[in-house]
Amino acid sequence: MQLLIPDIELPPKSQGKFENYPRMRYMGGKQKLLPWIQDTLKNYEFETVLDGFSGSGAVSYLFKTMNKTVYSNDFLKFSSLISKATIENNNEILDENDLQTLLDTSKKHDNFIKLKFKNIFFSEKDLDFLDRISENIKYLKTENKKALAYTALFRSCLKKQPRGVFTISGNLDKYNDGRRDLTIDISEHFIEQVAVYNKSIFDNKKLNLSFNQDIFLFNESQFKIDLVYLDPPYVPNSDDNCYIKRYHFLEGLSSYWVGEKILESTKVKKIEKKYTPFSYRKTAVEAFDKIFKKFSNSIIALSYSSNAYPELENLTILLSKYKHEVKVFEKPYKYHFGNHSGAKRKSVNEYLIIGI
Ligand SMILES: C[S@@+](CC[C@H](N)C(=O)[O-])C[C@H]1O[C@@H](n2cnc3c(N)ncnc32)[C@H](O)[C@@H]1O
Repeated sequence: MQLLIPDIELPPKSQGKFENYPRMRYMGGKQKLLPWIQDTLKNYEFETVLDGFSGSGAVSYLFKTMNKTVYSNDFLKFSSLISKATIENNNEILDENDLQTLLDTSKKHDNFIKLKFKNIFFSEKDLDFLDRISENIKYLKTENKKALAYTALFRSCLKKQPRGVFTISGNLDKYNDGRRDLTIDISEHFIEQVAVYNKSIFDNKKLNLSFNQDIFLFNESQFKIDLVYLDPPYVPNSDDNCYIKRYHFLEGLSSYWVGEKILESTKVKKIEKKYTPFSYRKTAVEAFDKIFKKFSNSIIALSYSSNAYPELENLTILLSKYKHEVKVFEKPYKYHFGNHSGAKRKSVNEYLIIGI
């Protein structure tokens, strides 16, 4: 058998460290803030933690490296598959046999992706690969391996898509600055990403779990949750913060669009938006109140930033309704915004609001 998985060297002693989590460009992702989050939270006593809005999984992974029992939740399916692969999964990787199964060209497969997304995203060759691998994933033996294959696939798609969002389509030549990520096939990315994610898997000897539900439906009475980390979307002052708008292709891919309603009139064949009360001025305050109440028996750690609504002061007042001590930690942080040509750096303050 020809060996395909490249041997990737890890920096010394990085196994089981958050630095080893594959970087994923995710809107509102906190990967760059992990050292600060760790420094702040290490002063609190907790053994079990719920990451209620896990997104890219980066903060859940940090908790895993801090030897906590981690419950990771997001209402997006692709996001919960990422945490199944990297948080819940303690010891399964994709080996050469699994990769042969995934790359097998002998099986019949559907061509839904190729038909639906031709001339919208990626080359025909890439789309055909995505159809084939969607079929082949079913032949992997465990749910963890399937989740890991999907996770490698998601990162491959994000790398190949200019700006890592599925809002732009068609002729994307203007974005092609010759970067390797944009020129190699998704199948080549995939083989590399299998190796990258294999190296990120480690066992922290805890029963970590991944959930895929609306946080308000999470049954907190079934678990001992010492600390809950909340990083919801926030009401933006400009633009919008819709995750489906940016990542609908990955969300569709995670179920081969089965059960998803495609908005056929949209140029990029988006799926229906998922409602969350945190995104609207009218409902955000009530949503925060409800979630603080729901988790009032746990330490609450809320990530927040200065360009958001409701204002920091109002949030701390709200949290004080349920917690006797509320502390605010602050970190100045710069992030890029705007499109590529007009990208600027904007200063915001990132906060961790902690109620005990
Ligand atoms: C700011 S992002 C989280 C980023 C994450 N901490 C990271 O570092 O990647 C917010 C996440 O909340 C999820 N979300 C929004 N409303 C939700 C809800 N009601 N229940 C569960 N997840 C929700 C979104 O899908 C998105 O992934």
